[in-house]
Amino acid sequence: MRKLAVELGERSYNIYIKAGLIDSGELFEPYCKGDNVLILSNETIAPLYIERLSRAFTNKKVYQFLIKDGEQYKNLDSYSAVLNFLMENGFRRNDTLVALGGGVIGDLGGFVAASYQRGMSLIQVPTSLLAQVDSSVGGKTAVNHPLGKNMIGAFYQPDAVIIDTDTLDTLPDREYFSGFAEVIKYAMLGTEAIKALLQNNLPEIKLRDKGILAEIIYYSCRKKSLVVASDEKEKGSRALLNLGHTFGHAIEKLTNYNQYLHGEAVAIGTVMALNLAFIKGIVNKEIVDLYRNIFVKMELPEYSDDSIIPAQMLTAMKLDKKNTSDKYRLVLPRDQDCILIEEDNLELLEQAISQQLK
Ligand code: NAD
Ligand code: GLY
Repeated sequence: MRKLAVELGERSYNIYIKAGLIDSGELFEPYCKGDNVLILSNETIAPLYIERLSRAFTNKKVYQFLIKDGEQYKNLDSYSAVLNFLMENGFRRNDTLVALGGGVIGDLGGFVAASYQRGMSLIQVPTSLLAQVDSSVGGKTAVNHPLGKNMIGAFYQPDAVIIDTDTLDTLPDREYFSGFAEVIKYAMLGTEAIKALLQNNLPEIKLRDKGILAEIIYYSCRKKSLVVASDEKEKGSRALLNLGHTFGHAIEKLTNYNQYLHGEAVAIGTVMALNLAFIKGIVNKEIVDLYRNIFVKMELPEYSDDSIIPAQMLTAMKLDKKNTSDKYRLVLPRDQDCILIEEDNLELLEQAISQQLK
């Protein structure tokens, strides 16, 4: 089993990575101090894993609460419904919420755990690749507001993240490849081990080779843990984890969140960031080509094939949470890592964006 620590003083916690971990009662046991456990999941994932996971909690009263599947259910109604369930069943602060699912369940469950009685125990059991390499680690929790994604939330670290790599077997192909946008991000942030795995093991990755995936998840979580440990609340360097996201979020918004998966929009956004970095002379052509080639091989889109126009992108990008002034705050790749810049040259931005619009 691979084990990593996220070093955050008294809020430090471990990440465990191995095939079959949802059956491992002894691993969960120390994190469940109260009498009750609530497993939060959705209607797609629960039939696959919830009974097995429930059996891991011996001597506890185990409850299940399911929401419908989809980003649109990461909302205040679902949040309220879970809180009602906890209240009605007499949950106390030392009881435990287990989030079994992708980033939607992790973000919703995390926010419920953060706020119920000012904070209950939380175990993240991520089941999508995106959740295993990114969203389950670092304590960002949220629900969406009709006027904006992730607008209501809290920083709330889990007590443990337990990653069962076997759950990736049932993940649909499109979701699986979409998760690689975040993996490629860690390579571009300077994680050489991931860069090498992506360059040398594409056939194995496509076949979901468990050994290679465990390595990829381990190095991704390690990079994220280090960034979070140095800037938990995104006052500075954590913003680097948003590579491709400012462009990507705008693409998602302009296509009404129903054309691209998050990772797909981030992939197109990352190519836009590569374009801008190249135009500004920050990155070499070989690096641009290397990553564009990896995106293509990982079945991720490079171009947005809808009717988006650059001016709409720039308007949508203005609303990014990173912006602190009138300039666009963006993460740009360099040859070995990434930097945060402030950009106000609209012509350059339009040029970088329009190269990826078909
Ligand atoms: P998701 O939770 O909607 O899961 C994607 C799809 O895969 C869903 O249909 C889900 O039911 C299904 N699924 C998940 N695991 C499965 C499995 N093992 N077998 C079969 N089906 C499975 O989406 P996601 O891509 O996991 O996460 C996206 C969400 O994460 C967004 O809401 C985003 O805002 C959030 N996010 C949060 C952070 C953070 O730091 N907190 C970071 C990145 C993204
Ligand atoms: N996914 C970006 C972050 O956690 O900061």
